[in-house]
Amino acid sequence: MIELKSLSKTYSSKNGSSYEALKDIDLRVDDGDIYGIIGVSGAGKSTLVRCMNLLERPTAGQVLIDGEDITHYQGRHLFELRSRIGMIFQDFNLFTQRTVLKNVLFPLEIRHDGHSSALSRARELLELVGLSDMEDRYPSQLSGGQQQRVSIARALANRPSYLLCDELTSALDSLTTASILALLAEINRTLGVTIVIITHAMSVVQAVCNKVAVIDGSRIVEAGRVTEVFSSPQARITLQLLGLEPVTAAAPAAAGATGTINAHDPSDTKREVASDA
Ligand SMILES: Nc1ncnc2c1ncn2[C@@H]1O[C@H](COP(=O)(O)OP(=O)(O)OP(=O)(O)O)[C@@H](O)[C@H]1O
Ligand SMILES: [Mg+2]
Repeated sequence: MIELKSLSKTYSSKNGSSYEALKDIDLRVDDGDIYGIIGVSGAGKSTLVRCMNLLERPTAGQVLIDGEDITHYQGRHLFELRSRIGMIFQDFNLFTQRTVLKNVLFPLEIRHDGHSSALSRARELLELVGLSDMEDRYPSQLSGGQQQRVSIARALANRPSYLLCDELTSALDSLTTASILALLAEINRTLGVTIVIITHAMSVVQAVCNKVAVIDGSRIVEAGRVTEVFSSPQARITLQLLGLEPVTAAAPAAAGATGTINAHDPSDTKREVASDA
């Protein structure tokens, strides 16, 4: 279980200006979820997911993993934590000078796994993602979808309980997107990995997520089960993302325009919506 409690993140620059990228976020991802976090560009999605594994340090609030407050983890604790949480990015982030096999071996090498066990683990993962016959290729010799499969295999190397995916299909066509999402669903089902997917596409949420949080203007404006959010969307931004309300030339809805926003109630998955949406 991943819990964010009253979490805020303010970016400060050297010239004294600051920007509040996350405001008072309460969110709970339960074990077994495929949890979608959706919002327009700049809403705070990447900041939110990067706070879950402390790639960004929250300015206020707490991050709990399996009930343990990890907000101030450093050094060895942080290293151990990161091995429990895999991460995947839009641009794949593969090592261009390493073959497919050596990319997947990398996280096993830095944990000093024995060479033969690391090798068999890496090959098992390449089989899982359907790339067994490409282990000697370099990333530049792969399609985008294949590169994303390598990055999924690499993220799973240390048997994480959680997989955080930041726009993992944004650079891919719709059919390749569908196959990558099907792979994630299989990983969730067969390996029991809890998955968080950041996206700006409702189609991604619809395809694989059981729950969704809509983020707008640094706040969560709506969250709950996908079936409920899709059947009766409340916040204006959700209606816009679903294509049910027009977007003006000015900009998509901003949270500020929808008034007070209720936080996610960690005690269950009931709907939360902006008060006047
Ligand atoms: N390191 C940083 N320093 C200052 N401001 C930042 C930093 N990172 C992000 N921001 C700002 O915080 C806000 C949220 O950024 P974030 O990357 O979380 O948005 P996002 O929802 O992931 O957007 P996108 O869909 O374009 O990836 C943006 O206004 C951005 O400019
Ligand atoms: Mg982002």
